[in-house]
Amino acid sequence: MDTILNVRQVCSGYAELPVLDHVDLHVGRGEIVSVVGANGAGKTTLLLTIGGHLRLQSGAIQFNGQDISRQPAHDAACVGLVMVPEGGRLFPFMTVLENLELGAYHAKARAQMKANLQEVMEFFPILADRRGQLAGRLSGGERQMCAVARAMMGMPQLLMLDEPSLGLAPIMVDRVFELVKKLVATKGLTVLLVEQNVRNALQMCQRGYILEHGQLLKTGSGEELLRDPDVQRSYMGL
Ligand SMILES: Nc1ncnc2c1ncn2[C@@H]1O[C@H](COP(=O)(O)OP(=O)(O)O)[C@@H](O)[C@H]1O
Ligand SMILES: [Mg+2]
Repeated sequence: MDTILNVRQVCSGYAELPVLDHVDLHVGRGEIVSVVGANGAGKTTLLLTIGGHLRLQSGAIQFNGQDISRQPAHDAACVGLVMVPEGGRLFPFMTVLENLELGAYHAKARAQMKANLQEVMEFFPILADRRGQLAGRLSGGERQMCAVARAMMGMPQLLMLDEPSLGLAPIMVDRVFELVKKLVATKGLTVLLVEQNVRNALQMCQRGYILEHGQLLKTGSGEELLRDPDVQRSYMGL
């Protein structure tokens, strides 16, 4: 398998609080990989660490075979690593279009902004309809789509999604996840998804990892993990 992201023995956290404990994880090109775990397990910390927002205490991260362990976040986007933060973090007093344009902030993405805008508007027609509307007035599902579309404006190879289902009605969760799957199928994208919504996240991925207290406890195909009695008991109330 062609590995796009390789996380090896990574420890990281916050000043006095170690969170990630020797995390080993890899993502193949074109895969959807889910990391699932409870609130506080370290999911956001994992994405912030990969994205260069948090410094590694030890271990290494490779992206496309290059060591990015010490690469700051503003360089990550240039090499094709883009994160959609929890809740989307749109600028509520800017329009949908202005938010999308902000996603194209590095030089290569700027140069192709027009073509990329057209592409994301075609992919998310709802955003084309709402292009002049303030982002703060979007529904939860639309906001999440806008956040994904803004990330696509940065021309990612690897898209990292932080709990895109949070706060959405179940039907919107299905729609957002379907669209992410379609992006992967049609745009040659790779996705690393972190979720508390264990069932949906494992249903939509090829492979998954269970994260507990900063440690990856189990890995397997989405189907294997969905059938695992421990996973069912701990995360799906069965
Ligand atoms: N900015 C921060 N400063 C200190 N501790 C933090 C910070 N953000 C998160 N934490 C702590 O790190 C641990 C993991 O948090 P987080 O990665 O946000 O978990 P998750 O995304 O899985 O809910 C938690 O104990 C949390 O309280
Ligand atoms: Mg989180």
